[in-house]
Amino acid sequence: MTTAASDLRLTQYAAGGGCACKVPAGELERVLAELPLGGGTGDLLVGLEHGDDAAAVRIDGERAIIATTDFFTPVVDDPYDWGRIAAANALSDVYAMGGEPVVALNLLAWPREKIPFEVAREVLRGGADVCREAETHLAGGHSIDDREPKYGLAVTGLAHPDRLLRNDAGEAGLPLTLTKPLGLGVLNNRHKATGERFEQAIAAMTTLNRDAARAALAAGARAATDVTGFGLLGHLYKLARASGVTAVVESAAVPYLDGAREALRDGFVPGGSRRNLDWVRPHLDSAGTVDDDELVLLADAQTSGGLLVVGEVPGYPIVGELVPRQDAVLLVR
Ligand code: CO
Ligand code: CO
Repeated sequence: MTTAASDLRLTQYAAGGGCACKVPAGELERVLAELPLGGGTGDLLVGLEHGDDAAAVRIDGERAIIATTDFFTPVVDDPYDWGRIAAANALSDVYAMGGEPVVALNLLAWPREKIPFEVAREVLRGGADVCREAETHLAGGHSIDDREPKYGLAVTGLAHPDRLLRNDAGEAGLPLTLTKPLGLGVLNNRHKATGERFEQAIAAMTTLNRDAARAALAAGARAATDVTGFGLLGHLYKLARASGVTAVVESAAVPYLDGAREALRDGFVPGGSRRNLDWVRPHLDSAGTVDDDELVLLADAQTSGGLLVVGEVPGYPIVGELVPRQDAVLLVR
């Protein structure tokens, strides 16, 4: 039985949602640590070792290829919005490396028995519109029949090999800038449960990280990552660990989307957000002054979140700083 497209709620076909359906970071790292790597002949500038946003391979003195992929189950009920969000999120990892996307391929999984394929067309249309905005060729892709719908892109981009925004290039003494407000995980969780629409969240998730990345590069930044499934605390932990520094988060300076605190208060918390906090907690010192609710929000699993940049980026808020390495990798105050 297929459902009429008009009364379809796409999020009801997903067990998890968005980047919150990522495999937990700790589990992923354990498995990846046992894999043999390498074998290419090019100059691999960024690989798996620091869990960076994308792989980077030097082609010559001026150019590095950036390769990345991201796909996930529906985060919102509207198929066109979901397509735009998934595409903006997949492209983000290229921007988070300091690159510009060049070509993208669709990755689509669809339960053809359950959801009309015309709905998939709306998802693909959303992805295509975002690729057009990003001036990126969308050239084919791959689709499979699956129990759950999933959508995303494999993206190839270019960057200057000496101007990559890396996870391991953070330096003590520099501020931390965050380019989108947090709260996407709790708001998407509420949307999935109740069907309420959060326009500000959709606007944030469909905004390309292109302008933020260009501004970061123009400001001379060398280290950045995007805030997605592991949350601000998870991604910051990875960046600080890779850079050999400690990160300080000024919790009062962190911006949140409208309704995020209410969603948390009303109990709409994705499992991924709590897992993120559990994962970083052994490396985190909140001096007993920041309560657990605040920490859950700081660890909230984002979908198509903003860039976390080491350095000041004009027009975006500073949320903390990097300091010389201390006992804890993360200090929240
Ligand atoms: Co990323
Ligand atoms: Co990614």
